[in-house]
Amino acid sequence: MSFSAWMRDALLQVEQALERWVPADAPAGLGEAMRYGVLDGGKRLRPLLVRAACEAVQGDAAAALHAAVAVELIHAYSLVHDDMPCMDNDVLRRGKPTVHVRFGEAGAMLAGDAMQALAFEVLTPEDGSVDPALQARLCALLSRAAGHAGMAGGQAIDLANTGKPLDEAQLRDMHHRKTGALLEASVLMGAACGPTTPAGWAALSRYGAAIGLAFQVVDDILDVTQASDKLGKTAGKDQHLNKPTYVSVLGLEAARTEARALRRTAHEALAASGLAAERCEHLRQLADLVVDREH
Ligand code: IPE
Ligand code: IPE
Ligand code: MG
Ligand code: MG
Ligand code: MG
Repeated sequence: MSFSAWMRDALLQVEQALERWVPADAPAGLGEAMRYGVLDGGKRLRPLLVRAACEAVQGDAAAALHAAVAVELIHAYSLVHDDMPCMDNDVLRRGKPTVHVRFGEAGAMLAGDAMQALAFEVLTPEDGSVDPALQARLCALLSRAAGHAGMAGGQAIDLANTGKPLDEAQLRDMHHRKTGALLEASVLMGAACGPTTPAGWAALSRYGAAIGLAFQVVDDILDVTQASDKLGKTAGKDQHLNKPTYVSVLGLEAARTEARALRRTAHEALAASGLAAERCEHLRQLADLVVDREH
C-alpha cells in the first residue's frame, strides 16, 4: 500500500472513532464544545504515529485505535487551553475560531478538562476489547507524557519564560516536554500494543524523542515563514508574544539545520531498532513529513 493510501485509511479510521467516542450529549453544551475542539480539523499526526508504530511491531490494531484516539484527545485539549487568553490568547485554530471564542472561557476550560478525562476513559474500555495489563501500560505512558513532567510541565516553562532569553539547552528541554513528550508517547503507545525487545523499545523511544523535538522546531519555523490561512492559526504569534523559540534563539537557518539533523537521528534509530526496514517504512516517512511539512 502506498504511503498516501495508508494515510487516508488511517485518518478515516481515527475520524470515525473520534466521531463515535466523543459524546454529543454531555450536559449544558459541554459535548458540543468538546466535539468542536477535536472533530473536523488537525493533521492527526499523533494517531498516525500510534498506528505506524503498532504496525512496526505487528501489534493489536484495535488497542492501537483506542490509543490513537486517546492521544489525540490529550493533544486537542492542550490546544484548547494553549489558546485561552491566560496562555497564548489565540482566536484562530484549525481554521476556525478557538473554543473559548466560540464557547467562552469557562466552556473552553471545561471542554479541555473533559477531553483529558475522556482520553483515559477511551483507554479503559469495559467491553474487553483491550487487555487490562495493556490498558494500564497505555495509561501510564499517556499520563506521564501529558502531566507535570511532560506537556503541562513544558507549558509551565513556556509561560514562565515568555520575554526571557533561554539558552539552547533550556529551549530543547522545554520543547522536549511541551511537545516532544506526547509525540514520543504516541510512538511508544503504538509499540506497547505488540511485542518489542528492550533494544527495539529504546530505539523507538529515540525515534519518538527526535521527531517530537523536530516537530516543535518546525512549528517555530512555520510561525515565521507561513501565513495564517495556510497554518489555520495565527502566524507570527511567537514574536508577537516574545516567546523563546528555535528561530529566536538560533535563527532560521540554524533551526532548519537542527530539524534535518533530528530527522537523521530518527532514521538512524529506526535502522538500529532491529525491526525489519519494510515494517518501519511508515515511521520513516512520518519523520520526513514532520520535517518537510508546510503547515
Ligand atoms: C500544534 O500541533 C501544537 C504543537 C504541539 C506544536 P499540530 O500542528 O499537530 O496541530 P494540529 O493537530 O494539526 O491542529
Ligand atoms: C504549544 O506550542 C504546545 C502545546 C503543548 C499545545 P505552541 O503554543 O507553539 O503551539 P501553537 O503554535 O499555538 O499551535
Ligand atoms: Mg503555547
Ligand atoms: Mg500557542
Ligand atoms: Mg507554535
